[in-house]
Formats: sequence, C-alpha cells, structure tokens
Amino acid sequence: MIIAANLKANLTRAKTVEYLNELEKFLSAKNISQEVLVFPAVSSLNSHAGCAIVGAQNAYPTKNGAFTGEIGVEHLEEFGIKTILIGHSERRHVLGESQKLIAQKFDFFSKLGFKIVYCIGEPLEVRKSGNEKMMSYLDAQYEGIDTEYENLIIAYEPVWAIGTGLTPTLEEIEGLHEELKKKSFAPLLYGGSVKVTNVKEVLALNNVDGILVGSAALNVEDFCMMIESAQNLEK
Ligand code: 13P
Repeated sequence: MIIAANLKANLTRAKTVEYLNELEKFLSAKNISQEVLVFPAVSSLNSHAGCAIVGAQNAYPTKNGAFTGEIGVEHLEEFGIKTILIGHSERRHVLGESQKLIAQKFDFFSKLGFKIVYCIGEPLEVRKSGNEKMMSYLDAQYEGIDTEYENLIIAYEPVWAIGTGLTPTLEEIEGLHEELKKKSFAPLLYGGSVKVTNVKEVLALNNVDGILVGSAALNVEDFCMMIESAQNLEK
C-alpha cells in the first residue's frame, strides 16, 4: 500500500530532518515494505537517502524563470526530487488554482516522468447536492489529466473532511472509490481526517490502495503507527 504524509506548511527544515530520521529508523527496524511518501514544506526540501520517498507539495510548470514565489523543476532536481502533489484542495480552493493550471502542471511533470499524486475531492455543498452533481464535479477534476499515466497515484480527499475530524462513512468511501476506479486503474488513496484510530478500517476497504494524511502525520510516531497498520494488513 501507499502511505503518504502531506506536511503542508508545518515542520521547519530542522524539524523535517528529525522527522525523516525517525521515520527511516522505523522503516528499517520494522522492515516495512509499504511505499512511504513524505511531502515537506518547500523550504524543508532536501536530498534524502532512505526508503521513504520525499516529494514536493507544489512547483510551477517551468524549469525556472520569472515566477515570483514559485519554484521550478530545477529546484526539485537539485535534491533529486521526482515526486509531486498536484491538485490538492488547498491549492484549488485556498490559493485559487484553476483546473487549467492544474492540467498544465500535470502535463509538464508527467512529461518529465514524475510520480504524481493527483488530488480530487468535493466541497460539502457539492456532496449535499446529490450523487449525480457530485460525480460531475469530480469528473471535471479529471479534465486535461491523463488517467492512464504510468506514474499516477490518485488521492480522493473530500474537502469537508480535510482537517475537520469529519469523514464520510466507511461505506461511502468504499462506494466512491469503486466509482472512481472506473475512471482510472491508478492506485487510489483516501485522504481526509485519517488518524491512528480509524486507519485500519479505512485501509481495509475495497479499492483503497493507501492513504494521504495531513494533521495526524505531523507526529512521526503516529505516522509510523499508520504505516505499521498497513504493513499488518493482509490485503
Ligand atoms: P488531514 O489529514 O489533516 O485531514 O489532511 C488531509 C490532507 O489534506 C492530506 O493531503
């Protein structure tokens, strides 16, 4: 399974080094065979040798250039980073990224062979408007995206479940993942208030190939416990 930590705008460079050291000790001590991804804040990116894969939360679709406040692929290559999150709901809804820009990023980074964790998810008002409207909202998030891209991982993260402690029911997650799997064979992660206390149930669901964790992954011991739950699950 794929167990990913999105550290968002948390953990400084020094704290990220400590975090990754603790994580690597755990991965080797427990002989973990799961795919573990960590997305630190941009100023905490660094070269990383170990079992976990370090990826970027964002980058502009450029090598370099006049894009104030952004980084390009050159800045990722400096640290050997070949993994990126694209389409996260905070970039869509807080930072106003359009599907057009998201698709441009997807196109740019897929051509470079990056592993892409592509995020989709609906706000609460969309979910409340019924299944049909919700599915067409999610469909629109696939516009311009090559769903057959070989290095694609999709993360379904309902916006209203992110950082709120709320989650869809297990049946709802399973049902939606079943629908989403019809659109792409890519591994499909669930994200949104996953924590130590619900991780086993979520990971055990059909068509859940892993998790993308925010707040609960900030504590490295908790993240390790979630990885261990995946390791112990016969799937
Ligand atoms: P939380 O785990 O804090 O709900 O965040 C999920 C998320 O946004 C991961 O990308």
